[in-house]
Amino acid sequence: MCGIIGIISSKEVSSRIVNSLKKLEYRGYDSAGIATLVDGNINEVKCEGRVDVLEKDISKFNLKGDIGIGHVRWATHGKPSKINAHPHSSEQVSVVHNGIIENSTILKKILEKKGYVFKSQTDTEVIAHLVTDYLKKNSIKNTIIKVLKKLHGSFALGIIFKDQNDLMVGAKRGSPLAVGYGPNENYIGSDSYALKSMTNKISYLEDGEFCILKKDQIEFFDTDGSHINKKVMNLSKNEIDYDKGHYKYFMEKEIDEQPSTINDCINEYIDKYNNQVNIFNFPWKSSSIRSVMLIGCGTAFHSCLIAKYWMEQSTNLDVNIDIASEFRYRKVRFKKDCLYIFVSQSGETADTYAALDLCKKNKMKTCAVVNVVESSIARNADLVLPIHCGQEIGVASTKAFMGQMLVLYILSLKVSFDQKSITKKEYKYKLKNLLKLSNSAKKTLNVDQKILNIAKVFAEAKGSMFLGRGYSFPIALEGALKLKELAYVHAEGYPAGEMKHGPLALIENGMPVVVLAPRDEHYKKTISNMQEVIARGAKVLLITNKNKDEITSENIWEKIEVDNLDEDLIPFLMTIPLQKLAFYSALKKGYDIDKPRNLAKSVTVE
Ligand code: M6R
Repeated sequence: MCGIIGIISSKEVSSRIVNSLKKLEYRGYDSAGIATLVDGNINEVKCEGRVDVLEKDISKFNLKGDIGIGHVRWATHGKPSKINAHPHSSEQVSVVHNGIIENSTILKKILEKKGYVFKSQTDTEVIAHLVTDYLKKNSIKNTIIKVLKKLHGSFALGIIFKDQNDLMVGAKRGSPLAVGYGPNENYIGSDSYALKSMTNKISYLEDGEFCILKKDQIEFFDTDGSHINKKVMNLSKNEIDYDKGHYKYFMEKEIDEQPSTINDCINEYIDKYNNQVNIFNFPWKSSSIRSVMLIGCGTAFHSCLIAKYWMEQSTNLDVNIDIASEFRYRKVRFKKDCLYIFVSQSGETADTYAALDLCKKNKMKTCAVVNVVESSIARNADLVLPIHCGQEIGVASTKAFMGQMLVLYILSLKVSFDQKSITKKEYKYKLKNLLKLSNSAKKTLNVDQKILNIAKVFAEAKGSMFLGRGYSFPIALEGALKLKELAYVHAEGYPAGEMKHGPLALIENGMPVVVLAPRDEHYKKTISNMQEVIARGAKVLLITNKNKDEITSENIWEKIEVDNLDEDLIPFLMTIPLQKLAFYSALKKGYDIDKPRNLAKSVTVE
């Protein structure tokens, strides 16, 4: 993961680097660092911990310099510590890196034999020494060409050079790198948001490319050093909403924003006047698509799973799903009549991007369901369906999950209508019902008081289970992921019907179990499974939808009822109490809600 930033200017850069690092903190937050060039010498300040700590340290050192690079780290090689924090410097250069150098052990041995001394346990330090070594006999440009060819794995790099007062290098393979154009200054950054307060004119490096920045000029090169021209994109000037408003945590705010993000997304994709789906840029005839492969990681994968249920239910498509890190290494039989759909909030997840790249290389039809429309995944897919939910800052994905599910649900309605696998009446009925979703989501938000008490039990539990059948199974997985990620409580999501095949052995007296049992075709069977866990001592939180038929078990510990919408839509509503459960459990334990331990918002390494 990690975030990188570089500024080359004729004004001091350290405070602006720090500001950009704050915006990049979603990519990693275990250590941070900065290096600037002062009178031809490289000065570094690094720390373990957050950018706030770095900022304080910088103020003590009064760090000057008009050229500088900065980094926020998510540790891969070597524990989070000051010594392993980037930038990594030799006597000649200073380097920031996002990615993994897979052949770093071999390169390190070669460099050590040549007398280079390593200070850190990182893979990145080999780059600093390798560049230094090549610089002895090569120009900067030739050095970069040769070094990049030596490196295996993925990287986005920012490099500054001792005694080079008007020069900075950026390079990319696998990890994203944006290049920004400013007034008598230029920039590199892991994403355009980090540069947005300075410029809205951006280009993106593609894999294998590098650039040499000066204050008033940027040159782009391919792997062999031939000049290339780059398209300059003008991004919208809207600043990102980094304001928590009256909330203490972004996650809390993002959960509460869901009714309005549902509305925004519906407004984008549903023509309310004609009561039809508005996806006009679909570049293929529906008849040319017979199957779908949905691919994502983590929460995004859970939205793929629920989409499989919806699409199988209403379309004639053959629907498959895969976790991106598995898909990219399987011997996939690519099918011309398959639409490969990549789901990702950030649009930068390394495995999802690699899976997309594999499909592109095999000339498949690709579609991206993303939040960040300027991301690598969005830029490379044939069709982009944005989820329109605004910047999500909390590491735990909440409103983006809602948006992903919604876009995939709408897409499944569009395909089923185009394929005539549902009647026009059903199609119009489902679209009308969808308009009720935002309001019901708003009502579902009012569960705080109840969840607060329930969370006390989950927060202290040794382990917990989340059970559901059909549409509720992906939501059970998502509820369990949220609890693990935020409250660090062991949580297993299971299809309720699987319990007897092993996991039931885990149930013991007082173990909290969430049972998702909407009144659908699975209801009776799920309730039987619920009785089985209650009989073995579980404390059951039942989440269902309101219905006139009362549930007859006296032994349910707690019950939450959501609105009685169309059964396709209940999963959206059931998600909300589970998000709040994870939030309040983490709050109870005093954990860092927006930045849980060991994680990062954007996973740009595999
Ligand atoms: O940006 P993406 O949607 O591709 O990220 C995928 C996962 O890393 C992400 O959903 C992760 O599982 C979340 N932290 C879960 O809350």
